[in-house]
Amino acid sequence: MLEISNLSKTYQRGNKEALKNISLKIEEGEFTALLGQNGAGKSTLINILAGNVKKTQGIVKIGQYSIDKNELETKKIIGIVPQDTGYDFVFTVDEALKNQSGYFGIKNNDDYIDELLEALYLKDKRNARLRDLSGGMRRRFLIAKALVHQPKILILDEPTAGVDIEMRHTLYEFLIKLHQSGTTIILTTHYLEEAEILCNRIVIIDDGKIVADEPKEQLMDSFSDEVRIELHFDHELNLADLEFLKGYDPQIEEKTSLKLKVQKKDLSKVFRMITDKKLEFTNIFVEKPKLEEIYLKLISH
Ligand SMILES: Nc1ncnc2c1ncn2[C@@H]1O[C@H](COP(=O)(O)OP(=O)(O)O)[C@@H](O)[C@H]1O
Ligand SMILES: [Mg+2]
Repeated sequence: MLEISNLSKTYQRGNKEALKNISLKIEEGEFTALLGQNGAGKSTLINILAGNVKKTQGIVKIGQYSIDKNELETKKIIGIVPQDTGYDFVFTVDEALKNQSGYFGIKNNDDYIDELLEALYLKDKRNARLRDLSGGMRRRFLIAKALVHQPKILILDEPTAGVDIEMRHTLYEFLIKLHQSGTTIILTTHYLEEAEILCNRIVIIDDGKIVADEPKEQLMDSFSDEVRIELHFDHELNLADLEFLKGYDPQIEEKTSLKLKVQKKDLSKVFRMITDKKLEFTNIFVEKPKLEEIYLKLISH
């Protein structure tokens, strides 16, 4: 669906190597988070896909088309929600969306525009001028604009930066539905929670290089040597009886549940120790590591 091979970008100004030999393949139906600190190269990558920044080296294919040879065809396949926006403030929302449709040769798509504006809570802003929209409304407008030609891939550059929590969750719902209806989505974010909630694949970019690229669950698994487990009992516990678990940071909560920190390799041993003491538990929960912990490990300089 999207294939990037050995992509590099050096900006002339500052002779800055923003992307260093990046390769990435996105399959249809994926929902990918591109995570990275400020200056990591996320926007550079997206701007190259959008045709706004010229790559220095490498191959980019969108669908079956190369961005060098079939720019218009590639633009039909992707919709891009940019981070920084230069657009014409004098237009109304409706005019701007019609102009964008016209760019793709699409006419008479009023119903679809209605649908988009409704889903993005902009219906009553259809005739408002862009310059009169609030920051959050403009971000939503940009999503509508990116979707007006019904692209197969939607790429969003920090779509929720500066958007309040309530509206952020509204956008999450919108993106989840869009993904369920078949759109492949890539988004950059520095909200780790966002990547955790929405995405099924995580790509971490640091200083122009990809330092991790895995299905989310796998990434979370491979980085956790230690798990936190919680065991529930049908009787009250007291710490004195749990002396044998002292190496595992035992904590009693609500009198009948026990929390432990255990290295994965010791899990069987710990369960055996507990059952040997004739302590019977009635339920067990395993807490996954947070993406944040993994992220910090990967980008710690
Ligand atoms: N137009 C530009 N000219 C020169 N350097 C740039 C330009 N745009 C970005 N950079 C530099 O390239 C690096 C990557 O920037 P960017 O892709 O915007 O990162 P991100 O979106 O991850 O914050 C940064 O060091 C940034 O300063
Ligand atoms: Mg950026």
